[in-house]
Amino acid sequence: MEEDAATMDKIVALCKRRGLIFASSEIYGGVGSTYDYGHYGVLLKTNVKNEWWRSMLSERDDIVALDSAILQHPRVWEASGHLAGFTDPLVDCRVCKSRFRADHLEERAVGLACPKKPSKLPGEGPDCDLTPAREFNLMFKTTVGPVEETGSVAYLRPETAQGIFINFKNVLQFSRKKPPFGIAQVGKSFRNEIAPGNFIFRTREFEQMEMEFFVPPADAPRWYETWKAERFDWYQRLGIRPGKLRLREHDADELSHYSSGTADVEYEFPIGWSELEGIANRGNFDLTQHTEFSGEKLEYFDQPTGERYVPHVIEPAAGADRATLAFLADAYDEEEVEGESRTVLKLHPRLAPVKVAVLPLVRKDGQPELARELFAGLRGTLQAELDEGGSIGKRYRRQDEIGTPYCVTVDHQSIEDRTVTVRERDSLAQERVGAGELLGHLAARLAAPWKSPKLG
Ligand code: GAP
Repeated sequence: MEEDAATMDKIVALCKRRGLIFASSEIYGGVGSTYDYGHYGVLLKTNVKNEWWRSMLSERDDIVALDSAILQHPRVWEASGHLAGFTDPLVDCRVCKSRFRADHLEERAVGLACPKKPSKLPGEGPDCDLTPAREFNLMFKTTVGPVEETGSVAYLRPETAQGIFINFKNVLQFSRKKPPFGIAQVGKSFRNEIAPGNFIFRTREFEQMEMEFFVPPADAPRWYETWKAERFDWYQRLGIRPGKLRLREHDADELSHYSSGTADVEYEFPIGWSELEGIANRGNFDLTQHTEFSGEKLEYFDQPTGERYVPHVIEPAAGADRATLAFLADAYDEEEVEGESRTVLKLHPRLAPVKVAVLPLVRKDGQPELARELFAGLRGTLQAELDEGGSIGKRYRRQDEIGTPYCVTVDHQSIEDRTVTVRERDSLAQERVGAGELLGHLAARLAAPWKSPKLG
């Protein structure tokens, strides 16, 4: 297989250059591992989230949506186990003041180095002086109320999942659903990660796309298999190359105390194989815990059979930012075109931030006017862009770099016969299409099956 052009440095540079993603608070020197999404980044990540919603809501009828608050009652985190157990053991170096995860030191993890002597591991340099490991809670703590001393402690949610469990009864009452059914949610989560890094792969503030699927206990193993297959397939349907994806079942010693099965969808990022999404069989742990801590019975009563039970939960938990990074890495390519090199994002058309760009060949002879007319006709239906400035080659490159699948060029012939050329991003094929058919032509092409041209 040809070597992949995508490296983390190149993806980061492209994202900054083309306004997808910037380091946050840059004018103040940055703030560790937080990122701001620019115009094309917002469009791309929104498309990723919309595709997730589509697969959860529009394509099925057994899942409902939720948007719960980020700040929740502090008891939620006692019940969930996050207050006591959501910790990482940390080791400090008294000399260089760096902090390391004890498990990373134990594993001699890839990339781990003594900051003063990078050829050595922390603790193995001549001056290293490491403290014993200490537990460090990953939740961000804040105070609710105007005065810090008298206000009550609250936490920024470290996962969206608990917001779903605590609303189980509300949803059950209004939705008239019965197990098996799911509740889906997309939103920000916060973790005071000890070792954030690798761009948007691991950050302290990130977006999750989580769904809790409530099932009769006996059906949990079957639904666990179903959701593993469905989530693995979702990434492939959106164009990720199959050879870059794998499903890794956790060993028994990796499982959380409540889980009877967890598998990770892994992607071969430029940093190596890493978790993209986790699918867990959480049993009845969460509903039982919240029943105990809140006093509110979270169970299902099946009127016809008179059966009462606490549903088991299958949870596919994905990261919107991490998925965006995987789609970027899978799409990034560099090629020679007519003696010139181009960088191109070969994104699935459904994910591409802009679907079509309209480009007048020259800024005269009625071409800009016709281009504006066509743009006005497209933009209500498709995310479109009008680009009038610079040589046509430069404008094609600009669109290639953000992954625009189609460029429509208005030229001198267009003024005579109202036809335009439609250039396809991956094959570079050009077709002449009548202005009146343009929207229909593009819509049909955008909806057609697609596979990554990087597969050859
Ligand atoms: N409710 C289960 C849960 O939160 P998780 O494996 O901790 O499970 C699910 O998180 C997904 O959220 C991960 O697979 C990853 O895609 C994303 N994620 C977790 N921590 C992240 C971080 N610090 N930065 C970016 N994404 C993260």
